[in-house]
Parts: sequence; C-alpha cells; structure tokens
Amino acid sequence: MDALHDLFEFLRFPSVSADSQFKSSVEACAEWLRDRLGRAGLQAQKYETAGHPIIVARNEQRPGRRTVLIYGHYDVQPPDPVDLWETPPFEPVIKGEKVYARGSTDNKGQILAHILGVESALKERGDLPVNLVLLVEGEEEIGSPNLEAFLKEHQSALHADVVAISDTGMVAPGIPTFTYGLRGILCMEIQLRGPSADLHSGIFGGSVANPATVLSRLVAKLHDDHDRIAIRGFYDRVLPLEQWERDLWAKLPYTEEAWLATTGSSRISGEAGYTFLEQVWARPTAEVNGFVSGYQGEGPKTIIPSKATAKLSFRLVPGQDPAELRPVIEEFFRRACPDSVEMEIVQQQSGKAYLVKPDSAFGKAAQKALTDTFGKPVAFVREGGSVPITQSFKDILGIDTLLLGLALPDCKIHSPNENFAIENFHAGIRLNRQLLEQIAVT
Ligand code: BES
Ligand code: MN
Repeated sequence: MDALHDLFEFLRFPSVSADSQFKSSVEACAEWLRDRLGRAGLQAQKYETAGHPIIVARNEQRPGRRTVLIYGHYDVQPPDPVDLWETPPFEPVIKGEKVYARGSTDNKGQILAHILGVESALKERGDLPVNLVLLVEGEEEIGSPNLEAFLKEHQSALHADVVAISDTGMVAPGIPTFTYGLRGILCMEIQLRGPSADLHSGIFGGSVANPATVLSRLVAKLHDDHDRIAIRGFYDRVLPLEQWERDLWAKLPYTEEAWLATTGSSRISGEAGYTFLEQVWARPTAEVNGFVSGYQGEGPKTIIPSKATAKLSFRLVPGQDPAELRPVIEEFFRRACPDSVEMEIVQQQSGKAYLVKPDSAFGKAAQKALTDTFGKPVAFVREGGSVPITQSFKDILGIDTLLLGLALPDCKIHSPNENFAIENFHAGIRLNRQLLEQIAVT
C-alpha cells in the first residue's frame, strides 16, 4: 500500500536528534520530508537553524477562511539499547497489525497521517477547506531549542487560528482521546569530580570521598520517605488537581493491573494520596534518567572512581515555571553537596506544561472530528509526557493547541520495539480530513 510505503521510507532515516553522529541522516530526513510535502501539492520549504532544520509547508492561503497550524516532529529518540530490538530499529517491518521501527508512533507515523490526509483532500477536491501551515521540526526530542526563536522570527507567516498536534496517546484502541494537559520538563546533569584519576580502593579507600557514593546520597535526598520531592519551594506553584478531573479519570478504562503489565513493574509506588493516573498526569516528579560512575565491564575492579554523573529530569505541571525552578534546584544541590568533591551542574532542555479548556469552539470542533472518525465518545485526559513547544504556541502566537494523539498504551515509544498500529495510521488520515472540515466551519 502506498501510505505504508511512504511510512517505511520516512522510518528508514535514523533521524536521531540527540546524537551528532546522526546529523547527516537528520538532514537527509528533512530533505525527504520537504520533497514529499512538495509532491503532496504543498509549497514546502526547509529552514536552517542553529541545530536541525525546520520544514514548513502551506497550501494556497486564501482570505476569509480558517488557518490551521499542524505541528509534528521528524526527529526520533536514540534507538538504544539496540540489542533489545527484535528487528533493527531503522528497518521497519510489519508484524501482526503493527509497524515496528524507532519513530513509528513518535512521531513519524502520526505526522505522516496528517500529511497523507491533506494530500488525499487535495487530490480529491483540489483544495483544502482551510489555510494550512504545516510545521515539522527536527529537535522535539531534545527540547526544541531553536523553535521558539523561529516562531518569533516568523510570527506573522505562522499566524493561525489554532494548532493541531498528533503526538500524544489514546486511552485504548479505538477510543478517541482528547488530551487537554501535558506536563512540562526540566533537565540537567550533575557531574561530580573527586580524585584526579580512578584510585586503588584498598590503598586509598576510606581516606578520600567516593564521587559515586556522594552522588548517590545527593540523588537520594531528592525524595522524602513518602516519595514527595524534598526540594524546598518545589511544589509552591503547583496547580491542584480538580475534583471533576479526578472523577472523570476514575472512570477511564485503566487498571493498575494493565498499567503494571505495560511497565513490567511489580507494584504502583510514588507520591501518596494520588492514583497512578493522577501521579503521572497531574503531579510533578524528579527522575534519574542515567547514572554513570566507575567500572562498567565484566568482573570486579577495585577502584574509587574519579567521576560520577547523573542525568536528571523533572516533570513539571501547570503552574510551575522551569525558569523559576532551575535556580531553586541548583541551590538545593549546592547546599547538599559536601566540599570533598567538585560539582558541576549542566543545565539542559526545558519546556512548560500545558493546560487548555477542552470545550472551546475549536475544542468542540476537534471533539466532533474525533467522534466522527472513531464512532465512539471522546475520552478526556491529561498526559505525563511533554511537547515543549505547545505552551510557546500560546505565549508567542497566542493560540490554543488541540492534542489529538494516536499512540496506544503499548506502542513502546522511547523504548525498544516501538510500534504503530496500522489501524491508527489510517484513522489518523481520516481524522485529519474530519478535523480540517470541522475547523473550517467553526
Ligand atoms: N510524543 C512525546 C510526548 C508524549 C508522549 C506526550 C506520550 C504524551 C504522551 C514527545 O515526543 C516526547 O517524548 N517529548 C519529550 C520531550 C523532552 C525530550 C523535552 C518527553 O516528553 O520526554
Ligand atoms: Mn513525540
């Protein structure tokens, strides 16, 4: 099938934004995308940035009709750990009713569904019911470091009535899902330096600080015994969960059992007083994403490592501002760190949380498009993941975003064996057409 052929081509580019080794593949993917959008009948352009290129495509903009900005990303997460993939991450295959490849759900399959929806409408009718601006970036998975500047620079050319993004999840197969909130994010790396080189742990052990031990202590101080974050001021601006949300979420088709099965964990843990959905969708977290120190090879090696590094990410919720929290967290580590080691904190990407009222006029248009596409009532959710640019669309362009995702709970994004249900790929193509129709009459 043609749609799948396009998807396979798109997925074969290892467009990993985080790793400079993949730079030429990211570039090649951007070029493929630009050309594909051109063939779909849109005016497509590639813009260079300080990082990876941004692709913008548009139809003929006609006065008197709605303008929709569709956003997505062509970059993907690193495929690691590669040996846990059943088939190679950049050689897409169909198994069962799913396409397996890195980026299949996040986000190539979802953004391509929009593109193919647009192409089919253009082919059938010669035009779209709206003015379309399609913006596909190559740096979402590293926090969109160059996109805000791009929005500011091209503010008038990117002006639209509303943004639509398919880069979030569905509560279950076949259940249309409207995401009205996302968590924000704040990343940093803590680097500790102790002795000038790895030392013999017998000759020197006991007399000088071990950076791995010190870092473990620092990281352990992030949470109290009830799994609440122990940084003073961290929760100050957290917007509390509302009762209607708790009621609504309690009725969603999620069970602890299924959640545990998906995660492969033995039990739910985390902040007390909240269900697992509330913990993930409406509460902030501090996570260790990576922890490296000392000897990693086979067998023992008796050393005091000279360095220890922890990669951390904080998920933030509406109300919290990453710019405000950065110094608060830094100060926490500076105070907690003993002077027996040297600490460097490398600040990394961040993005604000997002929260929108689902019943705005455009929200209702999206709901209608969802029910028409899936033939079922819409589920309303927030999600734990982040799409950092979403709040910037509001801050810079002044417009709301409709988050209409197609990711299934077991699609394994960011993990080995990421997959996209073919059924959702086709649903996405239909959803795009319904959505543009509905927005046109709003
Ligand atoms: N598509 C995801 C975000 C997502 C996934 C939202 C599932 C809701 C449900 C996105 O591509 C992503 O992974 N973003 C990163 C951003 C970060 C690297 C700055 C994330 O959330 O970790
Ligand atoms: Mn994504």
